[in-house]
Amino acid sequence: MTYYEQHQPDFLEGLKTFLRIPSISTLSEHKLDIIRAAEFARDELAAAGMTAAELIEGPGNPLVYAEWLGAPGKPTVLFYGHYDVQPPDPLDEWHSPPFEPTVRGSDLFARGAADDKGQVYIQIKAVEGLLKTTGKLPVNVKFLLEGEEETGGEHIEEYVKSRPPRLKADAAVVCDTEMFAPELPTICVGLRGIVYGELSVEGANHDLHSGIYGGAAPNPIQAIAEILCALKDRNGHILIPGFYDRVVPPSAKEREAWGRLPFNEKEYTENEMGARELVGEPEIPLFERTWARPTLEVHGIRGGFTGQGAKTVIPARATAKISTRLVADQRPEEAAEQLRAAIQAACPKGVTAEFKVLHSGAPSLTNPDDPFIHASAEAMRQVFGKETVYIRSGGSIPIVGVFDRYLGIPSVMMGFGLPDDNLHAPNEKFHLPNFYRGIQAMARYLELLGA
Ligand code: BES
Ligand code: MN
Ligand code: MN
Repeated sequence: MTYYEQHQPDFLEGLKTFLRIPSISTLSEHKLDIIRAAEFARDELAAAGMTAAELIEGPGNPLVYAEWLGAPGKPTVLFYGHYDVQPPDPLDEWHSPPFEPTVRGSDLFARGAADDKGQVYIQIKAVEGLLKTTGKLPVNVKFLLEGEEETGGEHIEEYVKSRPPRLKADAAVVCDTEMFAPELPTICVGLRGIVYGELSVEGANHDLHSGIYGGAAPNPIQAIAEILCALKDRNGHILIPGFYDRVVPPSAKEREAWGRLPFNEKEYTENEMGARELVGEPEIPLFERTWARPTLEVHGIRGGFTGQGAKTVIPARATAKISTRLVADQRPEEAAEQLRAAIQAACPKGVTAEFKVLHSGAPSLTNPDDPFIHASAEAMRQVFGKETVYIRSGGSIPIVGVFDRYLGIPSVMMGFGLPDDNLHAPNEKFHLPNFYRGIQAMARYLELLGA
């Protein structure tokens, strides 16, 4: 039995301990849990045998840094992941408490199980196995973990921007994406970017009786609805002037490969999404809509009366959280300006509208012919026993663009989540066979890179 097979129970217990820490970055009352999670990761890295393992304290949540540099002449890889998680609400929809990790069948349920603690743990345990069994690593390895990914925190970006010599590497390994289907090893070569912000609309300076003033008073919630309808049409086309100008369509080769992916649209729609039918730009194929086209979504609208029963009021103000996903070669700053201008142009009379960006990140595309990508595909092929597929993803991991821009290195996105892992939703899970095989594939990857 190999080290990796023998230690599966320990890996599971260790991951459960990590998952019990509610390191929710968006809620300030969990600041201590953030610190505990960072320290946990640091201690695990030290115990795994990394020669340096420390917290980098700065203005935001600590970064975790570790290194093992005992392979002179060999490449250096920089492992990235995040130890923060999303809030668990709505709590009453969880079948077991979000921070009491529970195994049901071959899945481990907990907030952060797949996104991203389980995948961070894969990286740590891969390195641990090699160090414990051979006393060394086949290549030089660095870790940079962050605790603000889920809030779009930009402290890691500031740190990377300063180009600290210790971050020098030949490639990054980002373990924070999904496989296209169970058992199907997958490399993600494209991510969307994002501009996330808050739209604030103000009408009268106080709430008004809707009978007495209705017909004369401006209504900020109605205004938000009108603005949103002016930004995107009923077919999912974004109406913001200039928004599509920089959009690069996928190549014929990529389109053709996407068409060959094993996929059942009915099962995706009805079971995975639990929806009745798919929407969006009708003339664009599905994967292109979710991976290679920009989108505009509203996440929540606050304002007026939402309590029990009825109250006839015209609210004085309302806000909406909205975001747009960007694709190559759109630029976050430019997209934000275009969005802002379109909001002003669509703002109805009687109200003022203000758009404030909360965070943003650039889209990214990786060259699939990079040798670091090829080695990863081969490592996963060997461990999973199937040819690795290349996909893109609609989600955003801003660090990928940052590594490209400031360190000049490609990011190898080998991820082991599954489409039904319920990321950011109740009953998030990690498929345990993927966890164990992910550890082996990551170790195999380092071996191939060192060979
Ligand atoms: N790991 C996800 C992104 C992801 C999920 C990429 C699945 C590919 C496949 C990441 O933690 C995430 O949720 N990112 C946020 C962006 C962030 C800036 C708030 C997102 O995509 O909403
Ligand atoms: Mn993630
Ligand atoms: Mn996430």
